[in-house]
Amino acid sequence: MDWLRLPRLGRDTIWLYSSALIVAAAGLIKLRQGVVDYAYTETYCYQSVRTNSAVEPYVNCFSVSPTGKFSKVFRAGADTDLARNASSGFAMPGLWDGHGHLLQYGEFLNSVDLFGSTSMDDVRSRVRKYLDRNPGAGSKEEWLRGVGWDQMVLGKMPTASDLAVDKELKDLYIMLDRVDVHCIWVSQAVLDLLPESIPDVPGGEVVREPGMGVFCDNAMDMVMGLWPKPDNKKKEQFVKSAMGKLNEVGLVGIHDAGVTPGNLNLFKELAGGPDWTVRVYAMIECYERNTFCPDEVERYTSPDGFLSIQSVKLFADGALGSWGSALIDPYTDRPDTSGSLLVNASELVYDTIAWANEGYQVNIHAIGDLANRHAVDAMVAALRLLCPYEPLSRCQSRHRFRIEHSQIIHPDDQARIHAIGIIPSIQPTHATSDMTYAEKRLGKERTAKEAYRMRSLLDAKPVLGSDFPVEPPNPFQGIYAAVTRRSPHTGRGTEDSPDGWYAEEALELDQAIRGFTEGPAYGGFTKSKTGIIKPGAFADWIVLDAPLDSLDIEELRELKVRETWVGGKKVYSRD
Ligand SMILES: *[C@@H]1O[C@H](CO)[C@@H](O)[C@H](O)[C@H]1NC(C)=O
Ligand SMILES: *[C@@H]1O[C@H](CO)[C@@H](O)[C@H](O)[C@H]1NC(C)=O
Ligand SMILES: [Zn+2]
Repeated sequence: MDWLRLPRLGRDTIWLYSSALIVAAAGLIKLRQGVVDYAYTETYCYQSVRTNSAVEPYVNCFSVSPTGKFSKVFRAGADTDLARNASSGFAMPGLWDGHGHLLQYGEFLNSVDLFGSTSMDDVRSRVRKYLDRNPGAGSKEEWLRGVGWDQMVLGKMPTASDLAVDKELKDLYIMLDRVDVHCIWVSQAVLDLLPESIPDVPGGEVVREPGMGVFCDNAMDMVMGLWPKPDNKKKEQFVKSAMGKLNEVGLVGIHDAGVTPGNLNLFKELAGGPDWTVRVYAMIECYERNTFCPDEVERYTSPDGFLSIQSVKLFADGALGSWGSALIDPYTDRPDTSGSLLVNASELVYDTIAWANEGYQVNIHAIGDLANRHAVDAMVAALRLLCPYEPLSRCQSRHRFRIEHSQIIHPDDQARIHAIGIIPSIQPTHATSDMTYAEKRLGKERTAKEAYRMRSLLDAKPVLGSDFPVEPPNPFQGIYAAVTRRSPHTGRGTEDSPDGWYAEEALELDQAIRGFTEGPAYGGFTKSKTGIIKPGAFADWIVLDAPLDSLDIEELRELKVRETWVGGKKVYSRD
């Protein structure tokens, strides 16, 4: 046989033959891989697909590559198998929350829910119920935590004694966050850990009347320093429960508005793992607020788009509810104060310039009109320095500085925000939660001209969000609040009115949807990657029972997402 002659061929020839064979085999394998890749490209068709893209706003099918990106977005004709076999349901880009707090939300889900608590008795009974379910909570090593109380609803500022009247709670270590997480209320056991005489704190308030127990803003630090913080294992649990809930309401990504360097390291470990089902654009929050700490962090973008670190959070002031936000003129209902800045103007300018110069996007928390003015000042100063020969607006389009909350802004500063294109990061449900008291704090004129703007800030490409856990993360409630300026919980305006609160500031439905898709994409440097269904974008989408724009607006309040997909994987299904 011919092959028997083979041994007579020289060694080199054989080597050459076998090399050729190997190359040919490799080619075949390569070819096969090509086929396999192609086979793994999944195609999904629905009754309709809203793409958010200007090119083809509505299609009915898309394909997803094995790398979790859209590879093809197309319309299948009605007489094709694809269209005939389409899944029932209506797809649209997955939604993003432009301002939330992941770990705090996870912690909230694992602590006492005090939102909507109406009396001290109600608070104590909720704490007791939690204790029944979580025996052992409230020890010195593991304080009992809760969030959601509001002294305005409780009728008085709470004190440690309000917890001590219940003998079950008397000796426990308890720390409960105010609804806006700008104050904490602690039990006597926690107070006993503090020095005998507690000093006042600049940029904060140690509440002393009607008794001790509440600490606000910078004054919270002395208590937080004593709190035995949850370990990484616990935090991993927080991340998992938070992401599960976020997927359930149709969120595929969030901007986390303040993560410490240590938690960023944990995020890096967890991102991309099986339980990390939400994309996170994390803003750095130095251990010491409003400082420059570039050595403790590093810029990071995971290749699969699940974690991005390239921005920093600074804090200009506190919250309106506790008179902590910094105003140009005094509060209408407390003429003795105009709130307090957490940082002086020169320090804010310094921090903004220092971070921006390192290439970080700077996002400043600002509620009051004085804080917003300082934020704009700091950003202008930084832009002038970064791009001395360019219009500020062009420089800003690269740096994309943001004002987190942008709640009360003097008309002069609104004009500057427009002119430069500073991004307002707005939480529509804050407007509808605060509408009950905002006018008391600010007076009619200031409210009408300055407060909770949405429509008039529209061309500045706002990022919309919820500030979860301060408000529930459900983006459809946010869209509802933005479109109606009524509470998604009651469907009413102020004092049970059927009309929206300053309805001239309401957004159109489409604008609100874009605030939860395109807005965060621009404000988080993921444009054409997120918030859109088009080739090359991350394959993140949700499925609804009906297209959003076909619904009666009231239906948004109770809307339940059918499915949520992230990176081409189904992460939530209602059924
Ligand atoms: C669509 O359905 C038909 C019959 O119902 C089936 O033969 C065909 O394989 C399906 N096509 C696809 C693309 O799933
Ligand atoms: C602003 O704050 C910084 C840091 O706290 C301090 O060093 C500086 O003196 C303050 N500047 C003014 C003008 O108060
Ligand atoms: Zn926040």
